[in-house]
Amino acid sequence: MLAHFSYQSYTCLLFTALAKSKTSFFCQSCGYESAKWLGKCPSCGSWNTFAEEVIVKEEGQKIEWRQESTRSKPVKAKTLDDIEFAQEIRINSIDQELNRVLGGGMVPGSLVLIGGEPGIGKSTLMLQVGLLLKTQRVLYVSGEESEQQIKMRAERLKSSSKNFFILTETNTKNIFLAIESVQPNVVIIDSIQTMHSIQLESAAGSIGQVRQCAGEMMKFAKETDTPVFLIGHITKDGLLAGPKVLEHMVDTVLQFEGDRHLAYRILRTTKNRFGSTSEIGIYEMLGTGLREVSNPSEILISQKDGPLSGVTIGATIEGNRPLLIEIQSLVSPASYGTPQRTPTGFDQKRLNMLLAVLEKRCGFRMGTQDVFLNMAGGIKVEDPAIDLAVCISIISSMEEIAVSDKICFAAEVGLGGELRAVNKINQRISEAEKLGFQEIYISKYNHKGVEVKKAEISIKSFGKLTEVFEDLFG
Ligand code: TYD
Ligand code: MG
Repeated sequence: MLAHFSYQSYTCLLFTALAKSKTSFFCQSCGYESAKWLGKCPSCGSWNTFAEEVIVKEEGQKIEWRQESTRSKPVKAKTLDDIEFAQEIRINSIDQELNRVLGGGMVPGSLVLIGGEPGIGKSTLMLQVGLLLKTQRVLYVSGEESEQQIKMRAERLKSSSKNFFILTETNTKNIFLAIESVQPNVVIIDSIQTMHSIQLESAAGSIGQVRQCAGEMMKFAKETDTPVFLIGHITKDGLLAGPKVLEHMVDTVLQFEGDRHLAYRILRTTKNRFGSTSEIGIYEMLGTGLREVSNPSEILISQKDGPLSGVTIGATIEGNRPLLIEIQSLVSPASYGTPQRTPTGFDQKRLNMLLAVLEKRCGFRMGTQDVFLNMAGGIKVEDPAIDLAVCISIISSMEEIAVSDKICFAAEVGLGGELRAVNKINQRISEAEKLGFQEIYISKYNHKGVEVKKAEISIKSFGKLTEVFEDLFG
């Protein structure tokens, strides 16, 4: 497959002639180009992010591109019916969580970006995946760590593979030379910010270099049908060229997130040309690498002796996967003028809205209370079906009345204090039943769609938030 591939063909087509170089200013956050320095980026609005970079004039490239396209076969648009449907091929990555977020496995020729803060475990994840793929030839290019460091990490993972090749290199020309000799089926680049191409004079990590190196990798991926993984750092202050520029170029963007001090890590799809973007993969960071968590609900509900006030369980769905998550609230009288509202793993604005609903529609005096809200396991929840569990948790803490730990909740709360229907209600109910819950509270507008009539779990449906409070707290 790689027989006709050479480095020259990659870079020469991208930049044919090393024409006289000039400089331009680039926003290091989003890649916006400007002829002069600007204080604020007109594209992404960030301040003080412009840096001067040497760029190569691209005139030669454009001419070459035109000549090439006129030389190639005649251009003809087709109707959808004319296009033959080729069976989609997927390469099993062995790691089931990774397969899930990629939409069913690796796609040949796809360029996948894995972003995340330093130290979250990106290198560990990709090393582990590479070592698991024993039947595929994997080339792991590291520009960050020495061979010894990678060896030590592999020792920790207690895994090895005869088909796994390591290259510590940052120059794309040398990388393509190594690719020619290794002929890998999968390539991993750790990280794209450390790579540099001799086609550009700017330093590694600058927007120009990141774009150029990713462009070369993309060309290689597409022409040889090899899946390529790019690891990219995100820093909070955006000092390194953030993967934002890359997001447009790559096929799939995976975000590796989680609290570094907690063991759980979530791999989230934020862009995917080959599958859904709402899938998540869950891992646990152990001393021996990342463990796939195939039944996340069990770990997201803490073990405790008996019910505790302020603690409720919400039946959420992430992607196609039901997740029962524990929510904890602490409500206490505010000691300063402005009460604090501090959510972790939940949207601040949404919390403010729910507090306003509790105040206005249900008559609770929230204005004088500090509210702290926490989603178990450091997980970020965006599913609106968690609303009801959040409201119950807040009131449970405020009134010091515990809710039975055999009850879970799944409904969205509207501005009128009404309970709104949520999607995939049957999946939520089955998951709750599987985990041994005895009751689930849902919206009455969802009741029609409930198929699990024979379920052992009792399903309680209500139209208003106040009705739920009456039922639970009397
Ligand atoms: P790493 O993969 O180096 O992060 P990144 O590439 O995203 O910067 O992960 C580093 C962290 O993971 C580090 O703090 C140590 C921890 N770790 C474990 O807890 N167990 C392990 O088996 C390994 C390899 C790393
Ligand atoms: Mg790393």
